[in-house]
Amino acid sequence: MNKEHLVIFDTTLRDGEQSPGASMTREEKVRIALMLEKMRVDVIEAGFAIASEGDFEAVKAVAAAVKDSTVCSLSRAMEADIRRAAEALQPAASGRIHTFIATSPIHMKYKLQMQPDQVVEQAVKAVRLARNLMDDVEFSCEDAGRSEIDFLCRIVEAAIAAGARTINIPDTVGYAIPELYAEQIRQLIERVPNSDQAIFSVHCHNDLGLAVANSLAAVQAGARQVECTINGLGERAGNAALEEIVMAVRTRPDVFSVETRIEPVHIVPTSRLVSTVTGFPVQPNKAIVGKNAFAHESGIHQDGVLKHRETYEIMKAQDVGWHTNAIVLGKHSGRNAFRTRLQELGISFATEQELNNAFILFKQLADKKHEIYDEDLQALVTDTRAAAAAEHVQLVAMEVQSKTGETPLAQVVLNVEGQEQNAQAEGSGPVDAVYKAIESVISSGASLELYSVNAITSGTDSQGEVTVRLARGGRIVNGLGADTDIVIASAKAYINALNALQTSVERTHPQGTGI
Ligand code: KIV
Ligand code: ZN
Repeated sequence: MNKEHLVIFDTTLRDGEQSPGASMTREEKVRIALMLEKMRVDVIEAGFAIASEGDFEAVKAVAAAVKDSTVCSLSRAMEADIRRAAEALQPAASGRIHTFIATSPIHMKYKLQMQPDQVVEQAVKAVRLARNLMDDVEFSCEDAGRSEIDFLCRIVEAAIAAGARTINIPDTVGYAIPELYAEQIRQLIERVPNSDQAIFSVHCHNDLGLAVANSLAAVQAGARQVECTINGLGERAGNAALEEIVMAVRTRPDVFSVETRIEPVHIVPTSRLVSTVTGFPVQPNKAIVGKNAFAHESGIHQDGVLKHRETYEIMKAQDVGWHTNAIVLGKHSGRNAFRTRLQELGISFATEQELNNAFILFKQLADKKHEIYDEDLQALVTDTRAAAAAEHVQLVAMEVQSKTGETPLAQVVLNVEGQEQNAQAEGSGPVDAVYKAIESVISSGASLELYSVNAITSGTDSQGEVTVRLARGGRIVNGLGADTDIVIASAKAYINALNALQTSVERTHPQGTGI
């Protein structure tokens, strides 16, 4: 059977970034975008260009770096947003403006305070302007899941007539149920007279845990684009997980008459990168990318898999990028091997100096830990970049005393804007003591929202990766740190979060009351 193409639209860098604390730097976005491109994602939504100067620069940098995927920027149905999106997308080999306005009675009345006629008029104006600036325009009906079908038909027809090539029907609040959502898509395709001139797209949130089920039901009803994110990251309970959509379509060709162009072998490394960058761990039992997704604990299952893999496995772990912790590099690996492996992981450095700095740290790590895995390399690069970007505070040295029956004591030396400062403090544990010592110098006024430690690989010589989330004045930032010594990793993570707090700026939320 000739299969139709299902467009995979990844919005990890936009909707994913709307999860509190998941904001990403420009460099991090480029790194993730290059992995998505390697995975052969069709469209990468890189951000919301008008949100801030940083968001604009990030969309622009992704547009310049990516060649094989279309790069997209979100914009409200407003002139300034659309022009800013077009400007950020200027360097793109293939760019898309994604403009949206809310269409549900509740959003139109309370959020927009507009009449339905005005909403249609604004949508048409926005799509026309976008089409004057770029060929590829997507229009979304925000909160379509709770919108009236007659009004949806009307606004969708008008948007297509104005030049939208993709029509997105988001279930913004995760309210949809598969059967009903599929029926909504089916009706739109049937009733809108010019529906054949656009691709219908879905964008489902996971508030009821139905984002993937709703998206797949919509595909069965004729949707040919799915908007999704790596690890299901996204606003509130998240979006439909890319890895689940892609593998469902691939594993059940008997059910789906579509195929994607995704190369699934890049799924696990990309999942790991997104988790490292955002500090959002992947739950162990998460489908496809959780560490237990292919683990067989029970004796009966293990026995079955050994006799014939397909008794209990519907997919091959290797197909989605799991490999049994292959040792990639060690103490004697040279710079070329280091550079080549990083390139294979989608990591490149802007300057030779940056590569040299990372190589020095790699050698230091290899002295402490003989077997260096991909996960170690990814953590090392994230850590080096955060430290290099640290303009405000740097860790110079630290010492911690921790003895049975005694109160732990930490001494830290920090470089704060060029000035060395010493501090010491006691704490309930070594990490608590270090954080108190740092705070006695910085007095950040931030509250600690999350502290988590994960072993990057297995074994007691594994690096510990620490995530710290700090909040201050409504802003939430993450800091990551990795080291074979988890107290040092904790200090690095805390300092990286303090630096992020210092540099993070106010951003406009796309779905706020901006219109
Ligand atoms: O959930 C939503 O409605 C969105 C739109 C802006 C597409 O993210
Ligand atoms: Zn969304």
